[in-house]
Amino acid sequence: MSSKTSRLPGFHKLTPTERLRVVKEWAGLSDEEVKLLSAEGGLPLDVADRMVENVVGFMPLPLGIATNFLINGKEYLIPMAIEEPSVIAAASNAARMARAKGGFKAGSTEPIMIGQVQVVDLEDPFTALIKLLKIKEEVLAEANRKDPVLVKLGGGAKDLTGRVIDTEMGYMLIAELHVDVRDAMGANAVNTMCEAVAPLIEEVTGGRVLLRILTNLAVERLAWAEAVFDKEVIGGPEVVEAILKAYAFASADPYRAATHNKGIMNGVVAVALATANDTRALEAGAHAYAARSGRYLPLTSWWRTEDGDLAGRIEMPMAVGVVGGATAVHPVAKVARKILGVTSARELAEVMAAVGLAQNFAALRALATEGIQRGHMKLHARSLAMAAGARGHLVDLVARRMVEEGVIRLDRAKQILEELTGGGE
Ligand code: MEV
Repeated sequence: MSSKTSRLPGFHKLTPTERLRVVKEWAGLSDEEVKLLSAEGGLPLDVADRMVENVVGFMPLPLGIATNFLINGKEYLIPMAIEEPSVIAAASNAARMARAKGGFKAGSTEPIMIGQVQVVDLEDPFTALIKLLKIKEEVLAEANRKDPVLVKLGGGAKDLTGRVIDTEMGYMLIAELHVDVRDAMGANAVNTMCEAVAPLIEEVTGGRVLLRILTNLAVERLAWAEAVFDKEVIGGPEVVEAILKAYAFASADPYRAATHNKGIMNGVVAVALATANDTRALEAGAHAYAARSGRYLPLTSWWRTEDGDLAGRIEMPMAVGVVGGATAVHPVAKVARKILGVTSARELAEVMAAVGLAQNFAALRALATEGIQRGHMKLHARSLAMAAGARGHLVDLVARRMVEEGVIRLDRAKQILEELTGGGE
């Protein structure tokens, strides 16, 4: 193991420029890469214009760094792009506490995405399924002809399965291609293959192919992470007990489970955005996976170890890539990936699982002890101060006054600002 550590006490107290200097040193960023991050707008207009349609500008988000992450014995600084205060601090705090027991252990499946080909207008869908499975090798070969590069890298279509489903429009055959997409998110590769095999499937089944598209319920592309939190480090046995009760609430009640999982996605999506991954695909996969038993459940589980410590595990679909798509085009995403130091899609997925678990721990601990509003309101007060027009040192002055008074509102921020500046800043 290298001597490099993500444990950076006092990082949060530095200015953004000072922090960037630390990260530059840590991740070996070039001056060019540092410029991309520090410039307000790290995405050239012509690149943006080629990414999506009808471009008129940008919607910049803050990019922060979560510190303290130790995952599978490796140190990580984690770039997170998010508009919500507290999330990055919460992840960093949770990761710091996890270090006492060795940090996170994470793992993942091979990066297999599933593509669905819907076959309709079949007289006998069950016989059609049998016929289809007989030419499985032919279908896989046809799919793989579409992506020789992926095949050369060890990926490609690996299996073909099928299911007959009963729908309100009658029976249908759903053929499913299982594609190892290696380091890509994989949507393009899978959708191209699904379209390519459709004529062959029509020919052998005698039916008509309608939809040809991947599923975001990526049950064969899972990532998981586990951590043990020392009871003394997190506030004692009462805190362990309180967190277990908070978790029991989520396990028993979908209304709570939705919010529990939302907190997890705060972390997962922030890393996905920083690395230009598809956040909607992750959300869709996560929530469908949470409901796969027929009941919507938490994506994490928590229990007490024999020593009375708190242990947690997360498992969820994690369809993310480090090559292709926007990840390959967005300059800031490329720098974010360099800071992360991940070399494969699986490693990124594992890191994101650990961040999700950390985020969930932090939320449960805060909720089950002092509540999240105290910490949150401090940050919220700063946002309100800025919304009221405060800049520079005035932001903290206005925010602190509101926190002291216990009145954290925009109208009060405006009044305080006016008092401090005599009406003209
Ligand atoms: C807020 O963005 C996330 C939380 O609501 C998550 C949770 O309730 O577990 C704090």
